[in-house]
Amino acid sequence: MQLNTPNALRERLSRPATYKDGIPILPGALPLVGHVPFNLGDTLTFLREAAHQVGPLFWMRNLGSETQLVCMGEPGFELLKNRVTSSEFIREQAPDFIGDALLSRDGAPHRSLRTAMSGPFTPRGLTSSGASALSAEVIEASLAKLPSGPFSLLAETQRLALDIIFRIMGIDRSELDAFNHHYREFVLGAFPVKITVPFGPYWRSVRGRRWLDERFSRLIVAARGRTDMKGTLAALLAARDEQGQELKEVDLVQNLRLVALAGHETSASVMAWLGIVLAQRPDLWRQLREEAEAAPALPQSPEDLKRHPFAEAMFREVLRLYPPLSATARQATEDLTLHGKHVPKGTMVTVPVGVYGFDPAIFPDPERFDPSRWMGRRLPPSAIETAPFGGGPHFCLGYHLAWMEVVQFATGFARELARRGLRPRIAPGSAPAKLRYLPFGQPPKKTRIELVPA
Ligand code: HEM
Repeated sequence: MQLNTPNALRERLSRPATYKDGIPILPGALPLVGHVPFNLGDTLTFLREAAHQVGPLFWMRNLGSETQLVCMGEPGFELLKNRVTSSEFIREQAPDFIGDALLSRDGAPHRSLRTAMSGPFTPRGLTSSGASALSAEVIEASLAKLPSGPFSLLAETQRLALDIIFRIMGIDRSELDAFNHHYREFVLGAFPVKITVPFGPYWRSVRGRRWLDERFSRLIVAARGRTDMKGTLAALLAARDEQGQELKEVDLVQNLRLVALAGHETSASVMAWLGIVLAQRPDLWRQLREEAEAAPALPQSPEDLKRHPFAEAMFREVLRLYPPLSATARQATEDLTLHGKHVPKGTMVTVPVGVYGFDPAIFPDPERFDPSRWMGRRLPPSAIETAPFGGGPHFCLGYHLAWMEVVQFATGFARELARRGLRPRIAPGSAPAKLRYLPFGQPPKKTRIELVPA
């Protein structure tokens, strides 16, 4: 299949490959920076063209001359199950940022933490804790304040998604600005250079993390004494692992931090892309508006969600074509055979979870944005169809929350604009270009939406 790859990139990647351990090294690397600039830009096109040129298993060049193994297809997806791979390397790679949380644990320690944490994030758990109601409240309040002149929908959804996470953790509305500010400081830790210069990014990140951790601890202590509290933190305090043990405070703090990190930019990006697609497709906008206006309110339970098959299909189709995370990684815990090639124990393997949505064997005519491919099904999506959320034991804990909040957002957006007699349009001169991953696959900040008479 011929891909829609820019000619210059195709020419680079079609140069003759060299080999390491019998596996091709992707050609076309730039001096010093290797393939990093291609991988941070439109990474999905880059990875698909790379596989088209050299096959589904290849070495990619990082900064310097370091190489990184990429494995696509079924064998790559299989690695996510962590039978012959591990995620524990994350603890060493990101001790301050992720630390000892769900994402960096494996085996029994991961299982018991995950058992305790899963209940509040199931569809029932989200409804019974009141988290879905809190999320609907945040979404409706934010949408009511949308201006009609050109604005960045991403900036709006980033704020809204973080507010949802903090509200379901039991943080009072009056404290959201302070939490937002310190969280923004904390995420400066994603900056690769870790030098402690006062007021430098790393220093500010550490200071932000300390503030968040201290406030999360206080929140936990206060919540333990309350019986009237709604939301996910209250549900997590009541949760037990398979030994009947409650979550330790240190685990709660580290994982609340992880939930804020993992559950905010991702959902924000999907909501923003969804609005951008609707602004470009009046046919989809009409369909969504009809469904949204027929519902009595924003959905808050699994039963309510059944009334929103089109909004759900939009959520899935946006995720397929604009996945927030392009890839995840695992470390081999034993010698492996991948696509017939030997890969030694200890090798880091990148699994591009964002690429599966473009596989024509899974999604016919994959380039076409077509929500109807998700509708009228009797079975839930298969594991490979939900690959943007990962797979195996680390499959996204927030899958049902993301599904609920994006359907709420789509429905709320349509209802709010219908109430004001408006429809969304891309502001002249700001049409979205391709996806860029830095590190999330967000729409460009300069893409502006405007709301015009319907
Ligand atoms: C569209 C939105 C989202 C996408 C695409 C997404 C994607 C992912 C992916 C790919 C992973 C697996 C990483 C790996 O296997 O290495 C993951 C894990 C995780 N996600 Fe999400 N996520 C989303 C929303 C959320 C939300 C709303 C939350 C909030 C609860 C969340 C919390 C987590 C957590 C805690 C993990 C780690 C699970 C574990 O290690 O057991 N995510 N997510």
